[in-house]
Amino acid sequence: MKGIILAGGTGSRLYPLTRVTNKHLLPVGSYPMIFHPLMRLRRAGITRIAVVTSPEHMGDVVNLLGSGRRMGVDLTYRVQDEPGGIGQAIGLCENFTGTDPFCVALGDNILAVDFLKDVTAFSEILSGTERAARVLLKEVPDPERYGVPRFENGRIVEVIEKPASPPSAYSVIGVYFFDRGVYDIIRTLDPSERGELEISDVISVYADRGCLSHGYLDGWWGDAGTLEGWHEANELARDLVYEELSDDKWT
Ligand code: DAU
Repeated sequence: MKGIILAGGTGSRLYPLTRVTNKHLLPVGSYPMIFHPLMRLRRAGITRIAVVTSPEHMGDVVNLLGSGRRMGVDLTYRVQDEPGGIGQAIGLCENFTGTDPFCVALGDNILAVDFLKDVTAFSEILSGTERAARVLLKEVPDPERYGVPRFENGRIVEVIEKPASPPSAYSVIGVYFFDRGVYDIIRTLDPSERGELEISDVISVYADRGCLSHGYLDGWWGDAGTLEGWHEANELARDLVYEELSDDKWT
C-alpha cells in the first residue's frame, strides 16, 4: 500500500503564524507537524509516500524531509498550484499510486496511536472486491467543525462537511483509505461553496455505492489546523516520542 500526505492549503486559520511558513512545518510537541502523519504511515508499514504541498513552500518541505531516508521512508513530491481542496490534492497523485491501494493522511492531523489494524482490515476487504474505501472515526464534542458521518443501520450512508446540525457525534478524521477508483470519482466532483473538491463528497460516493467501511480510533486525535486545535495538539503531543527518530539523525 502507498501513502499520500497532504500539506498544501493556505493555513489562513493560523495567520499570522503561517504568514511566511507552511502550517505543516510549525512545531507540534517535539517535532514539525508533518512528522506526525509521516511516522504514523511508516508505523503502519507504508513507506512509499507522496507529499503534496503548495509551490510557495515546496522548497522548505523538501529541505526538511529530503528523500525521506532519515525517516525510513521513500518520498515523492507533488505541487498543488492552488488550494482547490483535499479532493484535488489527492487527484495529483494518480500516476504515483498507479493501480495500488493507498492511505491518505492529512498533514495537520495528529494521532496518538497507530492504525495498522485498519491497513490490515482494508487490505482484507480489497482482496475480495475491487472497489472500497475506509474511514476512521472519533467521537468528538464539536462535530460541526469536521466531516460528520450519517448512519443508517450501523453503516455510513453519507458524510456531511461541517454540518450546522450534525447527524452524529463523530468526526471523520484525516486518515482515509482508497482503491484506484477514487480518481474517477474525483473527476466527477464539482467544487463546493468554498471552492474546494471536498473529501466528504468523495467518501459519500463510496457510501452510496455500499463500498465504504469504517473503523474507530482508540486514542486521542487532534486537528492542528486552527489556533485552538494547534494549542490542544501541542499539549497532547508534548511527551510524544518517535523512538525511530531519537538518535543523531537530525544534527
Ligand atoms: O481534520 C479532519 C477534517 O479535515 C475532516 O473531518 C474534514 O472532513 C476535512 O474536510 C478536513 O477539514 P478541514 O477544514 O480541517 O481541512 P483543511 O482545509 O484544514 O485541510 C486539511 C489538510 O489538507 C491540511 O493539512 C492541508 C491539506 N490541504 C487542504 C486543502 C484545502 C491540501 O493539501 N490542499 C488543499 O487544497
